[in-house]
Amino acid sequence: MKREIKFKLNGEEVTAEVESHWTLLYFLREVLKLKGTKEGCGYGECGACTVVIDKMAVNSCLFPVMEVNGKDVLTIEGISGPGEALHPLQKAFIEEGAVQCGFCTPGMIMSAYALFEEKKNPDDEDIKEAIEGNLCRCTGYVKIIDAINAAKRGK
Ligand code: FES
Ligand code: FES
Repeated sequence: MKREIKFKLNGEEVTAEVESHWTLLYFLREVLKLKGTKEGCGYGECGACTVVIDKMAVNSCLFPVMEVNGKDVLTIEGISGPGEALHPLQKAFIEEGAVQCGFCTPGMIMSAYALFEEKKNPDDEDIKEAIEGNLCRCTGYVKIIDAINAAKRGK
């Protein structure tokens, strides 16, 4: 059954007709064609689909799209600055060599983004906790933690 929802997506008001069984991930990727948010496992285990909803990191593959009604959603497409300047986290991931295949990267960055919303000066334990639900098959995580620390210093 279709319902109308209204919410904020990357700073813009969105009104859409959605099916009640759709996930937010399906809506982002297949309806809006925002392909930055990745689908890995599809059941809450890998974090590739992480977006930020009302400042909290959320697995969009498990989040019913109906529930974004009235909320503020941010995806990897929405964090760059004016003129599409890279966000400090995006720059740091590139500069610290934290991107290999890149499949986990949008989710990692959105988890780190939510961490920075919560804590201005997170330590390594905070960072590890923030990304514990984000799997990376390539980097071994050290460079990802370095990148998040570098972004923190650059903020
Ligand atoms: S695709 Fe959502 S947690 Fe893996
Ligand atoms: S860079 Fe390949 S999965 Fe993380």
